[in-house]
Amino acid sequence: MAGLRYGRTNRATVAMASLLLAALVFQGHVQVGGVAVGFYDQTCPQAESIVTQTVREFNSKDPTTPAALLRLLFHDCFVEGCDASILLDATPQNPNIEKMAAPNLTVRGYEVIDGAKARLEAACPGTVSCADIVALAARDGAVLAGLNFEGRPLTMATGRWDGRVSSMSAAAAALPSSKSNVQQLTAQFGAKGLSQDEMVTLSGAHTIGKAHCVNFMDRLYDFPGSATGVDPTLDANYAAELQTQCPRGNPNQNTVVDLDPATPFVMDNNYYRNGFAGKVLFGSDMALFHDFETQFTSDLNVVNGVSWNQKFGNALAQMASIEVKDSTVGEIRLNCRRVN
Ligand code: HEM
Repeated sequence: MAGLRYGRTNRATVAMASLLLAALVFQGHVQVGGVAVGFYDQTCPQAESIVTQTVREFNSKDPTTPAALLRLLFHDCFVEGCDASILLDATPQNPNIEKMAAPNLTVRGYEVIDGAKARLEAACPGTVSCADIVALAARDGAVLAGLNFEGRPLTMATGRWDGRVSSMSAAAAALPSSKSNVQQLTAQFGAKGLSQDEMVTLSGAHTIGKAHCVNFMDRLYDFPGSATGVDPTLDANYAAELQTQCPRGNPNQNTVVDLDPATPFVMDNNYYRNGFAGKVLFGSDMALFHDFETQFTSDLNVVNGVSWNQKFGNALAQMASIEVKDSTVGEIRLNCRRVN
């Protein structure tokens, strides 16, 4: 099993892959209403354990797997709701899919979802939605990386149905930029029913994973109004380290840097320690620690890691319930990369 590659999606590959996929037969289901914990208890009792096992296997080969899965859920849920629309490949009818939107070019983890789906189709054909796999996998990733929900199991409701719409422009509009300020971030999270507090809490996911230099180079060399070109809110030693890792004019677009330089694979509250110390990569992250609207909540998480763990588990479940579809508008995709 190969690791989850950091890099930018090649548009031609996505289009080719979708064209090569075999035609699959639609199987109907009826369910109207919201999500519930244990939705598959009767229809596919092994659903959750199959996803967990798959995530574990990928994680044992590549410890950046939880980061990929958490970001995948975030980017799925913010566009058309949590409906696995991000997984859809391009087709001749719809070449401008979510995957092509700029913030999605570096999203990873599709192989994990495909792996779980293949096993689920073998065990319980046409039963478990791709949207539920994305949500369960993100939950499993967070737990594997060490999220401690006060020793209790972190439940994730299921019963999402898969969407049929994938739009590049919708993704570009809904997904926040690493250069956003607090007002812009608050508006984008608010549009999805998430509070400012949940936004600050969920941003703590930047305690794992990696980022491409291009997303923060402006803070190292071209920061407006700075004589040195360095964002003055960045810790000076950290900025110098980053300049070594991301040299100006570096032709390698795929160079990545740990989001949390101290414990890059552990779901802890270190993101907030980093922010407090001027050691977060994005302007959008730094804004949470400097804007008076979010500063207090952000700083509180520095001292109270236990509470952040708890809040993160709750906020993750909240994010995973954004605009969930039921059988009247969705389907159970048989292959997560194409509609039935
Ligand atoms: C607040 C607004 C947010 C912005 C502007 C933002 C932006 C970004 C950017 C630019 C990257 C780097 C991507 C790359 O260069 O490959 C990134 C990585 C990441 N983001 Fe966010 N993000 C936000 C919120 C979130 C949320 C809510 C979550 C999940 C709950 C999340 C989870 C992650 C993870 C885990 C990574 C590392 C991914 C990897 O290693 O592949 N982010 N984010």
